[in-house]
Amino acid sequence: MKACYQIMQIKEQPYKRIIFVCCNQRENNRECCNNSGGNIIRDSLKRIVKEQNLKDKIRICKSGCMGECDLGVNLMVFPDNIWIKDADESAIDEIAATYILPLR
Ligand code: FES
Repeated sequence: MKACYQIMQIKEQPYKRIIFVCCNQRENNRECCNNSGGNIIRDSLKRIVKEQNLKDKIRICKSGCMGECDLGVNLMVFPDNIWIKDADESAIDEIAATYILPLR
């Protein structure tokens, strides 16, 4: 396969960790992570990152559907290759303690 570096730039990603939080919202109240608080979890984790001044070390990213809607809220953590399922607001402190605060 021929590389197509002429039309894009490739560089090493600058963050030590990236957490994707499914915030997918389905119409007609179908089961989805945002109905279980995806945006609340994402916003809370982002606030913690900002409060801890860790924006240069970790990104909290909004994700679309991860295909496990009945197990939401779903999060993926990289480069740890961790998939967190069935998270709710009560999990925010544990997620922060495990994946955000150690980067201080
Ligand atoms: S809506 Fe989150 S996994 Fe499908």
